[in-house]
Amino acid sequence: MHDFCFTIPYGLLMVCGGVIGYAKKGSTASLGGGLGTGLLLILAGYFSLQAFHKRKNSYFAFILETAIAAMLTWIMGQRYMQTGKIMPAGIVAGISFVMAGFYLYKVATGGNHIPPKAERGKPLERVPPGSLGTPIIGQSLGLLWAMRANTAEKWISDRAKRYGPISKMSLFGKPTVFIHGQAANKFVFTSDGSKMSNHQTESVKMILGDRCLLELSGEDHKRVRQALASFLKPDSLKNYIGKIEEEIRMHLEMHWQGKQKVTVLPLMKTLTFNIICSLLFGVERGARRDALVLYFQQMIEGMWSIPFNMPFTRFNRSLKASAKVQTLLKDLISEKRIQLKNGASSHQDLITCLLSIRGEDNRELVSEDEIIHNIMLIMVAGHDTSSVLITFIVRLLANDLNIHAAVLKEQEGIKNSVASGDLLTWDDLAKMKYTWRVAMETLRTIPPVFGGFRKTLEDIEYEGYIIPKGWQIFWVTTMTHMDDSIFPEPSKFDPARFENPATIPPYSYIPFGGGPRICPGYEFAKIETLVTIHYLVTQFTWKLCCKDNYFIRDPMPQPTQGLPIQIVSKKQL
Ligand code: HEM
Repeated sequence: MHDFCFTIPYGLLMVCGGVIGYAKKGSTASLGGGLGTGLLLILAGYFSLQAFHKRKNSYFAFILETAIAAMLTWIMGQRYMQTGKIMPAGIVAGISFVMAGFYLYKVATGGNHIPPKAERGKPLERVPPGSLGTPIIGQSLGLLWAMRANTAEKWISDRAKRYGPISKMSLFGKPTVFIHGQAANKFVFTSDGSKMSNHQTESVKMILGDRCLLELSGEDHKRVRQALASFLKPDSLKNYIGKIEEEIRMHLEMHWQGKQKVTVLPLMKTLTFNIICSLLFGVERGARRDALVLYFQQMIEGMWSIPFNMPFTRFNRSLKASAKVQTLLKDLISEKRIQLKNGASSHQDLITCLLSIRGEDNRELVSEDEIIHNIMLIMVAGHDTSSVLITFIVRLLANDLNIHAAVLKEQEGIKNSVASGDLLTWDDLAKMKYTWRVAMETLRTIPPVFGGFRKTLEDIEYEGYIIPKGWQIFWVTTMTHMDDSIFPEPSKFDPARFENPATIPPYSYIPFGGGPRICPGYEFAKIETLVTIHYLVTQFTWKLCCKDNYFIRDPMPQPTQGLPIQIVSKKQL
């Protein structure tokens, strides 16, 4: 490891510590000391990095870093001896002591190792163009900032224009290669599992756990995915349409009927979360569901953050919430085991289904950790995505009266064919063709999932460049969705594009990903979206309270203020 890899985070830590000390206790000494030493360390790290780029060592930087670390060890060590307080004195003294030792070791062994020219021969020169930016942080803040400012599509397409079909950057602490286009999507989604594994950012892995589907590969991925698919496949879901519909009816009665104004996104999150709780995990309404909702929201907030586990950060709050969710789920699994022993059906919900899948020796085929981590994954993957899709369809139907009229006509036709009080059937859903095309076009223009990551397991050659082993590969959904050679006039909203799916080139429409890891919740999302839109258009009319068409990504798209709307129940008309 080079000195700057640690010095810049060490400097940032001091700056944050100083600011927190000032914010909590008004200590100007803490602010001055933290800012002063922190900024000097960041500067020293920067000098060292610049020198490294020129294949040199900066001994000025080494001396500065060693002096600051030694000084902080001495001053904070003294304070610790006087006060006996671990935070911040003991911690800062401890970290600084280790850093001082590290710098002395570096100086004693001749500084950072600069590879001789021969070692940096041809293959590395073929690493894709671009810059890795500042260590650890790289371009993460730029991308996150662009997502919040609704300019992420532009941010990413500007990079594509500048560097071409393949470029390197550093995201969420890892060197990353960004590739795009139909061929790139095919390359990512169908690559041999021995060359490339699925890969989430460190923060996602730490929050959801290392046995969730996203982290598994090869036979383990196949085994767990098959187990989940046995519940999520259409044949099985057909039996649960009624349960989904009951949750939707109950939701509309509780949160929409009799109201004049509602905010769509938070309500759709509540609805999709409730559907998942009831259907997949058999958790009924009540205190346990409420606790799960609360912890889940906190957990999700830090999933796309820089994995700095410091007090008061989003990431730290997420990790704590994840631990609480895991404890709740462990208890739930124990209860389900007892229910199964007492003769409960294995088809009750997803958990009983997973617990009942047995291997040759009659042992559970999916381990307890795998069940917990995958439940958390499904909660996140399942409720955040569909809620966003339904919310943006609601916005579209308010903005485009022609599309609203066509959806209403289709849904009224189906409503009139179902006897009053009866539930919708699988055949009714199959008739909602136009409504689903509207949903598909919504997913093309505003895909809930911005993109994803894979990790190379060996050096991979692509487009004449080498993507080194251990790097991330970043794919982005909108790059093909907004490509005018694939979807002419890409900014125009036109559900007719999906009238004949055969006209869409493979691997270019990818809101659900593709290949062996394609979203297994596709049918589930389709059912809950169609049933919800059926009830909304046949029972309510609505107008937008905010007229703008703005949204931010956090990381999911969120319309202004969560989309407040004025509603009128058709019963009142
Ligand atoms: C509109 C709704 C949804 C969208 C747009 C969506 C999108 C995606 C995308 C883009 C991926 C990544 C594919 C890849 O890496 O190749 C994915 C994976 C996944 N999704 Fe969905 N999803 C949705 C709904 C759901 C639902 C409702 C569930 C569960 C009930 C679900 C469960 C999963 C799981 C478990 C994975 C991981 C699959 C694997 O790694 O093998 N998703 N989804």
